[in-house]
Amino acid sequence: MKTVNIGIIGGGLMGKEAASAFGRWFALNDFPVKVALTAVCDLNPEVLSWYDGVPSVKLVTTDYKELLADADVDVVYVALPHHLHQKYYLEVLESGKDLLGEKPFGIDLLAALEIKAAAEQMGRFVRCSSEMPFLPGPQRVIEEVRSGRLGQIIEIKSGFLHSSDLDPDKPINWKRQNQFCGEIGVMGDLGMHVLHVPLRLGWKPHRLHAQLQKIITERPDGKGGIAICDTWNNAVLNTTVQIDQEDVPMTLEMKRIAPGETNTWYIEVLGTQGGVKYSTKDTKALWTFKCEKEQVWQRTDLGFKGMPFPTITGGIFEPGFPDCFMQMLAAYVAERAGALAGRFGCVTPQEALDSHYVFNAGLKSFASQTVENIHYHQTQPV
Ligand SMILES: NC(=O)c1ccc[n+]([C@@H]2O[C@H](COP(=O)([O-])OP(=O)(O)OC[C@H]3O[C@@H](n4cnc5c(N)ncnc54)[C@H](O)[C@@H]3O)[C@@H](O)[C@H]2O)c1
Repeated sequence: MKTVNIGIIGGGLMGKEAASAFGRWFALNDFPVKVALTAVCDLNPEVLSWYDGVPSVKLVTTDYKELLADADVDVVYVALPHHLHQKYYLEVLESGKDLLGEKPFGIDLLAALEIKAAAEQMGRFVRCSSEMPFLPGPQRVIEEVRSGRLGQIIEIKSGFLHSSDLDPDKPINWKRQNQFCGEIGVMGDLGMHVLHVPLRLGWKPHRLHAQLQKIITERPDGKGGIAICDTWNNAVLNTTVQIDQEDVPMTLEMKRIAPGETNTWYIEVLGTQGGVKYSTKDTKALWTFKCEKEQVWQRTDLGFKGMPFPTITGGIFEPGFPDCFMQMLAAYVAERAGALAGRFGCVTPQEALDSHYVFNAGLKSFASQTVENIHYHQTQPV
């Protein structure tokens, strides 16, 4: 079995999460491809020293060009602040390697257009990260929708909520500044997660009205002073999608100040004959709706059995964040090897670009207080 060698650029929060998943690859049952994390690049020596504990890592460097010059590296996972996505993703592709890029896949629409065009031109295998749909609950939501059991779809809600920005005394970091995180703010941070399943189901919004909020506008700078915090904290996009020639409302909710929430990803789909909903707040519970003699929401407890890629973990045990992240990496590696076998795949460059069209229209809608039509072929921001 061939081993795919992985390099990571940006070894912080998500780089470590990926390292942890690659390190227990043996947990995947009968998986057709082996992987080894062999090279890591980060500017921070403290971050790099963490990788001393990862036995497969042979190259640890502060120079990403050294990593890209390593002929043994096949695939690069880039987990860097958003203002660096375009430059680094393009250089990965130019070095002849395949790419798993973190969301939002470029700081803005123009960057996403460039990345997608380069991926196509160079014929590399490129995907964007979004892991939550790999949990059994979202997989079952997709199955319910595709089964046609819901009848005519009449409403969709999809969201991602956390409260990382709730504490006003939390010092500023790159995620709270437009120059690093992007004008799109929370939409770039959480929006790809929210749109992955809808876009995969063919629900591409054609119109929207956005509500954006900057709630905490300054924070300690970590050096005894105060820094401006100029990103959008929360966004609600009231969008319209066309399903079977009917306009259907789809609400997309992305919030970094959502009191009571830690990392809540949810989706709800209602139809004339049925409904389905899932939230990571209650990780195992899939809710399905039926209207017979009475209206009934029925709860089904899901376990590992519903994971796209089987693992050694017993079918009744509950999955969590590291598990869906590993499933997403497995989907990337399997699809790259032509072994996805009809399973759910990672976000494509086209889907990542489409999410930027939505966010871009969201900015325009809020700035002009208008309902915006979304034009997916424009090559400039509106
Ligand atoms: N998929 C998810 O659930 C998820 C969750 C959080 C963040 N993210 C995404 O992952 C990416 C990184 O976020 P994070 O939370 O890991 O950030 P982070 O700040 O924890 O890590 C980023 C790392 O990049 C390093 N770095 C910065 N500039 C560099 C450079 N020029 N060369 C090499 N290393 C450099 C930093 O030292 C840091 O260790 C972002 O795109 C973010 O949106 C995804």
